[in-house]
Amino acid sequence: MNRAEPREESDVIVVGAGLIGLACAWELAGSGVSVTVFERDEPGCGATRVAAGMLAPIGELDFGEPDLLALNLRSRRLYREFTGEVERATGLDTGYRHTGALHVALDRDEAGELKREMELQRSHGLESKWLGPIAARDLEPGVSPSLAGAVLVEEDAVVDPRALVEALRAGLAQRGVEIVSAEVTGLERDSAGRVRGVGTSIGSFAAATVVAAPGAVAGVAGWLPEEVRPPVRPVKGQTVELRGPSEDPVCERILGSERVYIAPRPDGRVILGATSEEMGFDTRVTGGGVHELLREAYRLLPDVAEMEFVGAVAGLRPGTPDNLPIIGRTGIEGLILATGHYRNGILLAPVTAEAIAALVAGDQPEWLEAASPGRFTKQEVG
Ligand code: GLY
Repeated sequence: MNRAEPREESDVIVVGAGLIGLACAWELAGSGVSVTVFERDEPGCGATRVAAGMLAPIGELDFGEPDLLALNLRSRRLYREFTGEVERATGLDTGYRHTGALHVALDRDEAGELKREMELQRSHGLESKWLGPIAARDLEPGVSPSLAGAVLVEEDAVVDPRALVEALRAGLAQRGVEIVSAEVTGLERDSAGRVRGVGTSIGSFAAATVVAAPGAVAGVAGWLPEEVRPPVRPVKGQTVELRGPSEDPVCERILGSERVYIAPRPDGRVILGATSEEMGFDTRVTGGGVHELLREAYRLLPDVAEMEFVGAVAGLRPGTPDNLPIIGRTGIEGLILATGHYRNGILLAPVTAEAIAALVAGDQPEWLEAASPGRFTKQEVG
């Protein structure tokens, strides 16, 4: 890394430079806190690199997750301002676009399910509109002519997670935040047990607060004391990238069916996602995974057959037992967790950053309660 020796003392150390860690560092640095970030790989090379970047608060919910929905909605409201601030500071495009989303039913069974989901959205006060096949194809002419109906969610948006990471890296450099390429090996504590920094592969670094944002490896992060290690498991996801003409995009909005979603990029590319596989730490791209995504994308949007195949990637979502993220103070004074974002890590980045800045400032936001690490531990949370 092209820079001077890392600063040996900061107010806050953030461990992990995925989108969550970078967004937390951005928000903290913006509030005048000195921050150093540690990352053992490339920034943004975990789940962030694979994510399609859908900002769709209800699209990823199972029924009965009101606490997660509340966090998702809060974060979607913050997104435009969050990306706008990063873009203004750096002059870089994050790929944020308020495209809306069209959720498509490809047969009558799927139409019944989609109508139930729409009722759920409406019961939460969310705007969504049922469209018949002709109206849906007026909006998105490329969608399969045999569709049974669709739901339009105008508020949904999309961002390019890789572009956002690049913009945040540039913005953090402007705010004086160093991203240090080193592995964190231990938490350093004083005689009263309170955090005083981290040990790393290149030495010790001091900070009164450590924010752990390790993503899918959180459950096996040996540097975190066992009593505060969160119950996070890796959930594999594969995505496929295709390229089409930017002047004549295959779709204007996020398109979704029961089995696939298609997220457009401003330059004519699309991301097809995503498989969901309980395979431990396996990150191989498989023939079966790519086949499934292409087959389902073709059923939804036959034009994908004409697009250039750019590549396929696999990554690991940080899953939790209740699908809610784990954000908050732990039983170790000075140690804060920001992990377990499962299918909503890109969407939840701004609200997580907001939460971490509040916690570091000594506040305890009421709206954060459902995400507290304390729900998984008997240890008192400080
Ligand atoms: N949020 C998209 C996914 O996890 O597949």
